[in-house]
Amino acid sequence: MAQDLRSAEWYGGTDRNAYIHRAWMRRGLPADAFSGRPHIAIANTASDLTPCNAHLNEVAAAVRDGIFEAGGIPLNLPVVSLGETQVRPTAMLWRNMAAMATEEMLRANPIDAVVLLGGCDKTIPSLLMAAASVDLPAVVVPGGPMLTGTFRGAPLGCGTDVWRLSEEVRGGSLSQDDFHRSESSMIRSRGHCNTMGTASTMGLLAEALGTVLPGLAGTPAPDSRLLEGAHATGRLAVELIEADRRPSTILTKASFHNAIVTLAAIGGSTNAVVHLLAIAGRLGVDLTLDDFDVIGAGVPLLVNLQPAGRYLMDDLYRAGGLQAVLGQVIDLLDPEAITVTGKPLVDYLHDTQIWDADVIRLRSEPLIADAGIAVLRGNLAPGGALIKPAAASPHLLQHRGRAVVFDSIEDMRARIDDPELDVDADSVLVLRGCGPKGYPGMPEVANMPLPRKLLEQGVRDMVRVCDGRMSGTAYGTVVLHVTPEAAVGGPLGIVQTGDIIILDVASRRLELDVAEDILAMRAPTQATMDGYANPARGWERLYVDHVQQADTGADLDFLVGGSGSAVSRESH
Ligand code: FES
Repeated sequence: MAQDLRSAEWYGGTDRNAYIHRAWMRRGLPADAFSGRPHIAIANTASDLTPCNAHLNEVAAAVRDGIFEAGGIPLNLPVVSLGETQVRPTAMLWRNMAAMATEEMLRANPIDAVVLLGGCDKTIPSLLMAAASVDLPAVVVPGGPMLTGTFRGAPLGCGTDVWRLSEEVRGGSLSQDDFHRSESSMIRSRGHCNTMGTASTMGLLAEALGTVLPGLAGTPAPDSRLLEGAHATGRLAVELIEADRRPSTILTKASFHNAIVTLAAIGGSTNAVVHLLAIAGRLGVDLTLDDFDVIGAGVPLLVNLQPAGRYLMDDLYRAGGLQAVLGQVIDLLDPEAITVTGKPLVDYLHDTQIWDADVIRLRSEPLIADAGIAVLRGNLAPGGALIKPAAASPHLLQHRGRAVVFDSIEDMRARIDDPELDVDADSVLVLRGCGPKGYPGMPEVANMPLPRKLLEQGVRDMVRVCDGRMSGTAYGTVVLHVTPEAAVGGPLGIVQTGDIIILDVASRRLELDVAEDILAMRAPTQATMDGYANPARGWERLYVDHVQQADTGADLDFLVGGSGSAVSRESH
């Protein structure tokens, strides 16, 4: 293998440069480390400031053992890590930066393959975007969900129950003291959020895409089987090089098809749409927003997890995990899509068992018969908008209501609880200025809080429309990712309070019921457009100048596609 290894371009030969590359790396490595043994990076998002990934150094150690055991040289490579609950103004602003930084470091360094360690929401997407653009053999180890915490004897789903409890406080049915008491019960162990939020979704979808050792995704972070799987993944990374199995080999249209079926069957996060589109964009895979609607149509929701259902991620694992879910929909999966092992995904699904049929439903007894994400279009969203029917109230899926418009998050916060706000249960709450460019970074605010006075009347859901995103742990009748966003002149920017908005999910419509000639006179003024973000410098400047809209994954225009792993010049 020696002469074919990419790392041999650094370490092979007898010249001064090869001497320098080898000498500085020796530091205890075995004497034959530079004679034909593959060098494998462990792209590690462990960080104390990404609490969901804080345990990944232990996972990295298990990967390291596996790589050594199979003859490789493991190399820890800390990469940009994003703590969803910690970074301001929103982790999504930094997803593309993390992907770009990781891509460049994978390309710049003398490595032959990479093991990707992620967990918290943006970490697996950014790692996969990077690996796809460099196209070195790559395999993911999802860090796994945390164990279920309980408060007063009842399980707490992190994220989802924060929304629920905070609404109860605002509605007066829970005291502030009890709300604070629940805080220390919420996060019980290492690992990422245990609801079917974005982290759980992306870990499971990474396996559905074929980039994870089959059966590993969804293993709870504290479970020793995660380390066993990490060890096996380290060994597999060496095999990937021998087989020349790369992201471009695995991540085909067929594997994205499988990810979309999985997304519907697990009731996964709407955030997966922008992440899958961005990953596909890095590979030149022709994936569109409409594929989510078409491929997801008719796929049943089988996983009874919060926010759509009742249970949490460790329940899913004990009930049989992702493979038991996919075993129920094996006929909907593309049999051609292979995994990192070289075998098709479906090969692992023939003898799966469900151990708790309330957590993982049989195909014949789904929670919802048709759980795909719906793509809406109309004069309010010519580029498309999303709604997750599984998280919405059935009675609101066909609705006509009067718009109550907020121009920004700050505007919404300032007025939402105003007793004088002219709003009722049938109103449609509109929040704009929250798209990729407008905020900037497309924050998770589309599930805006309901007006206090309506909460006090017992209202628990309303139609909401926004050009931002929604946390995967959230729920409600929320139309999100409205494209084009208001900040680039999208029609959302000219909606006025009092306009009638029509939502009809069955016919995939989102319309502003205002005469064309009136709309034509309402073009957003320059003053309005100037009100959107216009950062002076740094990443935010680069981001605002180059970010694309949600319908293609909100990647930067110059990061779409890949550059491969070649670096033409020596280190100087
Ligand atoms: Fe990290 Fe939810 S905050 S996964």
